[in-house]
Amino acid sequence: GCGSAYYAGLIGEYLFEEYAGVPVEVELASEFRYRKPIITPRTAVLAISQSGETADTLEAVREGKRKQALTLGLVNTVGSSVARETDAGVYNHAGPEIGVASTKAFVSQLTVLALMSVFIGRLRGCLSESAAGGLLAELYEMPDRLRETLEKRDEIRAMALHYAGMENCLFLGRKYQAPIAYEGALKLKEVSYVHAEGYSSGEMKHGPIALIDESFPSIVLCPEDSVFEKTRSNIEELRARKGPIIAVTTDHHLVEHLTDSIIEVPKTLECLEPILTVVPLQLFAYELAVAR
Ligand code: F6R
Repeated sequence: GCGSAYYAGLIGEYLFEEYAGVPVEVELASEFRYRKPIITPRTAVLAISQSGETADTLEAVREGKRKQALTLGLVNTVGSSVARETDAGVYNHAGPEIGVASTKAFVSQLTVLALMSVFIGRLRGCLSESAAGGLLAELYEMPDRLRETLEKRDEIRAMALHYAGMENCLFLGRKYQAPIAYEGALKLKEVSYVHAEGYSSGEMKHGPIALIDESFPSIVLCPEDSVFEKTRSNIEELRARKGPIIAVTTDHHLVEHLTDSIIEVPKTLECLEPILTVVPLQLFAYELAVAR
């Protein structure tokens, strides 16, 4: 995939490796089509595309075909080129994306990737019936949890007004939240025209930390998950540099003494939490654009 679709693919990689037992490589379609990827007839190429018309993604599918791979599509637009040219696939049926930025399509891509990993995990016998049931039960709860998250809009608007003058923003997240950090930065750039960088929290010390001062805010994705303690120490490093911190977390008590602003989202399984944490970032990009 490209852009947001590629970031959805990164989360798909974690899901497929954890639940379906399938080794995954995630590729930018624009790189994949120009290098010499090692693809065999035992490889499946899954193209993720909202429009189903992105030229690089379509060419990547054709490259997969030339190498006799099974080609699959995860596409929103019914009857689009990627949908027509792949051997099989899943439609998001998320409805048309009216704005340019992929928002509901991205959320839907994560949901379908979770469903695919459960399905393939069960077929391959590496996911127990009860674990699969647990994942599906959490997915059934998701519409209510998303509604609850969308109700944070007024809070997020106030936050956007507060940060309206910012010139830079660093997004950080670890494990399942790292691709959400990349996606949050992409949305901010694309929608609000503010310079933003998305980084895996663990990489922060290998460069970006040098930029942080009072004028350089960070948005840290820190739900209570298996890597929370690691992310908390990243927050402490940002504080030591006096960087303003906005936390997206599942429990404000965890970070209230360490951060300047908090957006709370409902808690779900670690692997499904990105479906919820991305929404405040989409709203923040929108509200910041309006505020500016
Ligand atoms: C970001 C965005 C783009 C698309 C990318 C791929 O908000 O919308 O980065 O994700 O152009 O587009 P599709 O998914 O249509 O192939």
